[in-house]
Amino acid sequence: MSMLRSENVSMYFGGLKAVENVSLEVREGEILSLIGPNGAGKTTFFNLASGFLTPTKGHVYFSDKEVTGLPPHVIASMGLVRTFQKTNIFAEVSVEESVRIGFNLHRRASLGSILTGGRATRDEDGRIAGVLEELLAFTGLADWRKALVKNIPYGKQRMLSIAIALATGPKLLMLDEPATGLNPVETKELIDIILRIRGDRGITILLIEHNMRLVVSISDRMAVLSYGEKLAEGKPDEISRNPAVIEAYLGKGFQNVSQG
Ligand SMILES: Nc1ncnc2c1ncn2[C@@H]1O[C@H](COP(=O)(O)OP(=O)(O)OP(=O)(O)O)[C@@H](O)[C@H]1O
Ligand SMILES: [Mg+2]
Repeated sequence: MSMLRSENVSMYFGGLKAVENVSLEVREGEILSLIGPNGAGKTTFFNLASGFLTPTKGHVYFSDKEVTGLPPHVIASMGLVRTFQKTNIFAEVSVEESVRIGFNLHRRASLGSILTGGRATRDEDGRIAGVLEELLAFTGLADWRKALVKNIPYGKQRMLSIAIALATGPKLLMLDEPATGLNPVETKELIDIILRIRGDRGITILLIEHNMRLVVSISDRMAVLSYGEKLAEGKPDEISRNPAVIEAYLGKGFQNVSQG
């Protein structure tokens, strides 16, 4: 089944074609990586899919429902959740509070029962406490729970943005360069967590990442953008042998991967 599907989406900023006619399908349960040189349109594609931008042309479908132009919070509540290339979490709150904010998007108790402090709300609070606990452990943040976000190491901040996204209960998690700025140990932890998000939780993953070793090792499929257009799509070994892809990356380190 298709989780996310774009049909000929384009995004123009004035005369600049940031994304041009991109049709891409993310299948349920897969890890699909979106790669491409700087400025290729990867983040813009994320913005189009998640409602932060409305495409100039084309259509976006999530779980076979059209979501083109819907606001981000509506798309997120349907189960499409993304992280940002730059950390955008609240520096002055604790780790635990930040994750709790993610849950607010997914609260099941009705407004009436919240207002009256009824039983559904207390049940909901209990449920959230349990899930919060599990999520902090899952993302390796349990020891940092009381720390202010601004005081935790950068790698933990990146992990926190994943924890916040998971707290909203996504079906599709879209990660925009999650390994940027991580050291080798943190990168290994990240790979492990991405595999477990898909394996243990059954969440589909769309990943933008410049670290080729990382994407080749964890992706089921890869898609390549270059100058806003989709250049290639296929299995990691096909992509890393594709001459057009190697050409697009020449001088950018990709040839190292194709040579093993
Ligand atoms: N809001 C905007 N207004 C104008 N131009 C934009 C805007 N957002 C992106 N662009 C331009 O669109 C093009 C694609 O940018 P985008 O951020 O999508 O690339 P990217 O593939 O994510 O690159 P990187 O790997 O550097 O993150 C670039 O030329 C960029 O300058
Ligand atoms: Mg980007």
